[in-house]
Amino acid sequence: MNAAANLAQDKMGAKPTATANQDSQNKSEKRTMKACVWHGKEKVALENVPVPQITDPQDALIKVTGTTVCGSDLHLYHGEILQLKDGDILGHELMGIVDQVGEDVTAVKPGDRVVAAFNIACGSCEYCKKKLYTSCEVTNDSSVEEKLYGQKTGGIMGYSHFVGGFAGGQAEYTRIPFANNNLIKVPDSVIDEKALFLSDIVCTAYHAVWDAGCSEGETVGVWGAGPIGLHVVQWLRNVFKAKRIILVDNVEARLHLAQQRWGAEPVNFDEISNVSEHVNKIVPGGLDRVIDCAGFRYTKSIVHKVERAVGLETDASDIINECLRSVRKFGTIGIIADYAGYTNHFLIGALMEKGIRLIGCGQAPIQRHWHECLKHIQDGTFDPTVILTHRFNLDSIAEVYKRFDEKDAGMMKVFIATKFSNPPSEGMPQLQDA
Ligand SMILES: NC(=O)c1ccc[n+]([C@@H]2O[C@H](COP(=O)([O-])OP(=O)(O)OC[C@H]3O[C@@H](n4cnc5c(N)ncnc54)[C@H](O)[C@@H]3O)[C@@H](O)[C@H]2O)c1
Ligand SMILES: [Zn+2]
Ligand SMILES: [Zn+2]
Repeated sequence: MNAAANLAQDKMGAKPTATANQDSQNKSEKRTMKACVWHGKEKVALENVPVPQITDPQDALIKVTGTTVCGSDLHLYHGEILQLKDGDILGHELMGIVDQVGEDVTAVKPGDRVVAAFNIACGSCEYCKKKLYTSCEVTNDSSVEEKLYGQKTGGIMGYSHFVGGFAGGQAEYTRIPFANNNLIKVPDSVIDEKALFLSDIVCTAYHAVWDAGCSEGETVGVWGAGPIGLHVVQWLRNVFKAKRIILVDNVEARLHLAQQRWGAEPVNFDEISNVSEHVNKIVPGGLDRVIDCAGFRYTKSIVHKVERAVGLETDASDIINECLRSVRKFGTIGIIADYAGYTNHFLIGALMEKGIRLIGCGQAPIQRHWHECLKHIQDGTFDPTVILTHRFNLDSIAEVYKRFDEKDAGMMKVFIATKFSNPPSEGMPQLQDA
């Protein structure tokens, strides 16, 4: 598919891990469940598959009561992530009720209401001990990732064999490895529609702001007003107390929401052709910090469109170059948006000459931040439902992917219910299935 894919994908063999993945799960289970299965570029389907089983003493089996589709799932949908296989079960954001636990699970018990982290961390390796959970040493068997990046990252639920090959949670049941570390119990006072998003976007956005070192009184630029970018803006305004927030996107409804709710200053790149020139005009000297919440797939220039299309690069540098030109000297750029492989025309001169701190925030170590984020949800300083626009049943999952990809009529974040879900909470979106 692209330059990075030229690596012989499966020929290098799997690295040993401390837990089973989708391929090695016990297939003797006779009960079936509905799950979202990937079958190729822009082809996902709801299918009956075996219910996962406890295969390790540290596993928990979860009855899923809420899941969703993420901007990151769109990379899978478009077939742009290495080692995604026909038949893989997708979904990395989920909550549910603990159904069964392995004998070494002590942190949760059957009946507990829990949210799962999107990343799978053992909780006890060198990186986990430092709370760098997404760098867990023992949950990803991909030798391809190790070869490409020099070291492997940790595993991710429902996100290809590049990050462990674990079956995902867009399903009626899912298995959570290392359950003592990867589940958080949620109090009854926090409704499902708020709790679910602790699995990724709430904590990811918090991590981005925290990791980029944002502090009170600063002027911060945010590229991308999707769920991550909008949550970043909410954290910046309500908790980190930014002075000014400049938000770049071309989806007017998203820009408008951030302007109305959190006083972000919108920059619509459909109307403003030279974004960095404009930013330097409205913020003389440049931005203190920038957070890239858009990502590798969003090309702007013809040259990157062509280079990606013919496989001369995997990732576009259009956005990162705009950020480099817009940040002040010795300012910071945090990249929370996904990048996967190589990019051309990266403005390395600006990085060096301006003394810019470029921070790869990594996949966000959810478990590091989720208690803090839950506290802010409970005390009302952060509300994840501001961007919750739709609710569908799992049966509509293929349609949801399509509409989410098209950024259909105001669709931002979707709550996907299963047969185990509670009814919608008061004031939350009602079912909208056709
Ligand atoms: N690091 C992590 O832990 C982590 C976790 C979740 C998501 N992500 C990544 O974060 C990114 C954002 O996620 P999301 O769910 O908000 O995705 P999204 O695709 O819904 O949002 C991206 C936004 O960027 C905008 N955009 C496109 N081109 C742009 C440009 N040239 N300049 C500015 N904005 C532009 C789009 O219009 C869209 O609103 C994705 O790459 C996703 O994979 C990372
Ligand atoms: Zn996600
Ligand atoms: Zn670990």
